[in-house]
Amino acid sequence: MTRLTGKRALVTGGSRGIGAAIARRLAAEGADVALTYTASADAAEQVAAQIVKGGRKALAIRADNRDAAAVEAAVNQAAEALGGLDILVNNAGIWAAAPGETLSLEAFDETIAVNLRAAFVAVRAALPHMGEGGRIVAIGSNLAIRAPHEGLAAYAASKAGLAAMSQALARDLGPRGITVNTVHPGSTDTDMNPANGEHAGPQVALMARKHYADPAEVAAAVAFLAAPEAQSITGAALTIDNGQNA
Ligand SMILES: NC(=O)c1ccc[n+]([C@@H]2O[C@H](COP(=O)([O-])OP(=O)(O)OC[C@H]3O[C@@H](n4cnc5c(N)ncnc54)[C@H](OP(=O)(O)O)[C@@H]3O)[C@@H](O)[C@H]2O)c1
Repeated sequence: MTRLTGKRALVTGGSRGIGAAIARRLAAEGADVALTYTASADAAEQVAAQIVKGGRKALAIRADNRDAAAVEAAVNQAAEALGGLDILVNNAGIWAAAPGETLSLEAFDETIAVNLRAAFVAVRAALPHMGEGGRIVAIGSNLAIRAPHEGLAAYAASKAGLAAMSQALARDLGPRGITVNTVHPGSTDTDMNPANGEHAGPQVALMARKHYADPAEVAAAVAFLAAPEAQSITGAALTIDNGQNA
């Protein structure tokens, strides 16, 4: 697979789960890839090493999404190391669940900072390095569209904000030939939401097709949106949730 040959990508939160799968998939399709992490240095270095072993350039950069200066520096470091940026995937995210009465302002602010504000920071920092044909993909959530259970105020707001921001940026960046899209995963088997975890049952019960997704399936959709053949798709959102929102 070579549809991303010569492309240079940055994936935030690429050390584990969906982000690691995206980093591997973009590299498998020919891209050089930088990835960020905040705590899992060993896991991030392992993903980068696998990519290098496969013949592509890769680097892992510590950058906490809560820290705008760190995110900006990571984008610049990635662009410098790879010689520019063609693909930005804003994937890093945290899960926060608490009913509105008890959800703390700190938890709300942190969720917005990591899941939404950092994505804006990364886009702003990436744009000077990105030319015609650039691709920006946000990893949202099917919970941005529907709230099927309680406790979602912060998380759903952050992900709906991400999708709305992507639509707005699609307008801003269309004239530059840069597309901006959102992928909304549903229940996907990662550390954040293990398929064998205690909360899995009620999620599966809501699905039309009763399976957790594999992170590689989300990665495949991101790779498609990043490819030249997706040039006419912008301002769009693709839900991959086994019909949970159907
Ligand atoms: N799994 C699901 O069911 C599901 C469903 C819908 C949407 N999503 C979204 O998909 C994305 C990836 O989720 P996942 O399931 O793969 O989660 P995960 O397994 O918990 O992995 C999260 C990734 O984000 C990074 N990260 C977390 N906080 C960070 C911060 N403050 N700064 C920088 N990086 C940070 C982590 O880095 P470290 O390894 O260093 O901690 C890790 O690489 C998230 O945006 C999540 O909201 C997931």
